[in-house]
Amino acid sequence: MAKITVKNDDVSFEVPDGSALKNSLQTNSSLMFGCGQGKCGICICSLTRGAENIAPKTQDEINLLSKRNANPNQRLGCQLRVIKGEVGIEY
Ligand code: FES
Repeated sequence: MAKITVKNDDVSFEVPDGSALKNSLQTNSSLMFGCGQGKCGICICSLTRGAENIAPKTQDEINLLSKRNANPNQRLGCQLRVIKGEVGIEY
């Protein structure tokens, strides 16, 4: 199991290794979602730790984050997939 901590909501939860995080973030945090498909950017968040435990960005995610001038640690919450271990998220 992987452990996800969302700083803004002061909440931690566990998900199976390899899980997409969109549904669990919707359930356990107040991070906002829109399209859910990596197209709108409303779900931009920052990885505060454990970035190495998240699957690499897809080309669509890279393209959208580039258009938004995102920092390297910013990701789309709807596209996050945890590999294993601990991950910290802030939005
Ligand atoms: S919800 Fe639209 S990009 Fe994530």
